[in-house]
Amino acid sequence: MLGDIERILLDEGAILPRLEAMAAEISALYEGEELTVLCILNGSIIFAADLLRRLNLPLQLQCLHLSSYHGGTQSSGTVTFGALDLAALRGRHVLVLDDILDSGLTLQSIAQRLQQEAAPKSVRAAVLLQKRRKRAHAAAADFVGFEIEDEFVVGYGLDYQGRYRNLPFIGVLKRELYA
Ligand code: XMP
Repeated sequence: MLGDIERILLDEGAILPRLEAMAAEISALYEGEELTVLCILNGSIIFAADLLRRLNLPLQLQCLHLSSYHGGTQSSGTVTFGALDLAALRGRHVLVLDDILDSGLTLQSIAQRLQQEAAPKSVRAAVLLQKRRKRAHAAAADFVGFEIEDEFVVGYGLDYQGRYRNLPFIGVLKRELYA
């Protein structure tokens, strides 16, 4: 797997201190409130595991299976939703955790669905990565781990065709593997 990586962008030495700072920011913002964290699977699983353990708040966790990529490195343009317990989100502060903000389609779709169907007290989003690019969809994250260039990255939960999620760093995938 290591041979498929063009270069390492962020290793655990960079990621974990940043999560510490993000968790402090999130804990301060919701101080005195109770939170529901909505973890978008599969890509956010490692981000969520590392961030949640640093949050100093009473919280509940829900996981939602979403997909907008169907195997490649380009979004299919439609988001497929897995099961979501909307009733459990009613009147709650909801913090959506996603691995990466790219076109904005995923975050926009989920925010719309929650506002229309779940009547939450608030909806915010925290992303580990945000790509530096023009976004086709009007979605913004309230908490951002790192801004990265518009390159296809894998590792630390992010995949290409289901692989590389277990790499303990975020790296740029060699272009010849998918071009
Ligand atoms: P959108 O375009 O909806 O993208 O903001 C969000 C989802 O697309 C996937 N994605 C990536 N996955 N490397 C990946 O492994 C990438 O560089 C990448 N860019 C987008 C990801 O599932 C994310 O939640």
